Amino acid sequence: MESELRKFQEFALQAISSAQSSADLEHVRVQYLGRKGQMSELMKGLKDVTSEQRKVIGQVANEVKKKVEAAFSEREKTLEVGERKAREDEEWIDISAPGTASAQGHLTLVTQAIEEIAEIFSQIGFVQVRHPEIDWDWYSFESLNMPKTHPARDEWETFFIADGDKVQTGEKGKVVLTPHSSNGQVREMERGRMPIRAININKCYRRQSTVRHSPMFHQFEGWLIGENVNITHMKGVFDYFVKQFFGPDRETRLRPYHFRFTEPSFEIDISAEKGKEDSKLYKDGWLELGGAGMMHPNVLRAGGLDPEKYTGIAFGWGLERTMMMKSGMNIDDIRLLYKNDMRFLEQF
Ligand code: PHE
Repeated sequence: MESELRKFQEFALQAISSAQSSADLEHVRVQYLGRKGQMSELMKGLKDVTSEQRKVIGQVANEVKKKVEAAFSEREKTLEVGERKAREDEEWIDISAPGTASAQGHLTLVTQAIEEIAEIFSQIGFVQVRHPEIDWDWYSFESLNMPKTHPARDEWETFFIADGDKVQTGEKGKVVLTPHSSNGQVREMERGRMPIRAININKCYRRQSTVRHSPMFHQFEGWLIGENVNITHMKGVFDYFVKQFFGPDRETRLRPYHFRFTEPSFEIDISAEKGKEDSKLYKDGWLELGGAGMMHPNVLRAGGLDPEKYTGIAFGWGLERTMMMKSGMNIDDIRLLYKNDMRFLEQF
């Protein structure tokens, strides 16, 4: 029994010194010193020995138990100190350390352009207005001198709002995603405040997707309606805008064109940025921005105005294109603007 006690001591000390955490050590304690542990088992053997032997063995047992217990306490302290230190290291915060600044975003390129354009026009008295982007056929086409079956409508590649196959209709005809900002013309006249000097910037939708067309895009459309408004005012507004927005080296070109809602009508082109004439954005060094003209008498009438008394100019341009023409932009596919690729967007 004495040798068993010695063996017990050897194993217990070994187990204690190899325990790597307080939890390990607790297992060791239960196994060796616990109520049902090896020590208690061994001590049960005492009843089978003579009282002479019991005295000796009792002493040895005491000695063994003390040694094991001492080793246990020692190990326990060491482990606890280590564990406390690890916890402290982990939980330590330097409350005086500077914080990590969270990433700061910025307005998208398109919003920046909207703000810039609105600001430029506000300098010459154009107020920014908003009109619906989902609208009736009446405002999008019919009131703009485009009767229902007129082939000119085809140019607007229009999306209709439908429930299944059934195109939705309302008070003033079919419901469309506005294919141009011109739907605001008659709506603005209906407000009944004359003269009108407004800039309407909104989202437009057409079934087209190419480097120069995105199915969702923006137009900004200006209206100047009053007495004695004429083409020279139109020219003056363009010259002013182009100088402000693009700088002195970009030119505009007016090409005679046809729109149902203006007469005469023009298309406005802007010259390419110097050195970028070959970019796939341009056609022979020019980019078409949009249309313009003197408002058609029928449109003025649809808005409740007397064409004998009032005349007006209207011009509608693609906002993204206008922005892409800006010096240094170097964006050669309009669809990049809406891909939400942060690597692209973060550059602006
Ligand atoms: N709405 C026309 C378009 O989308 C542009 C335009 C606006 C033309 C105003 C003339 C006057 O192409």
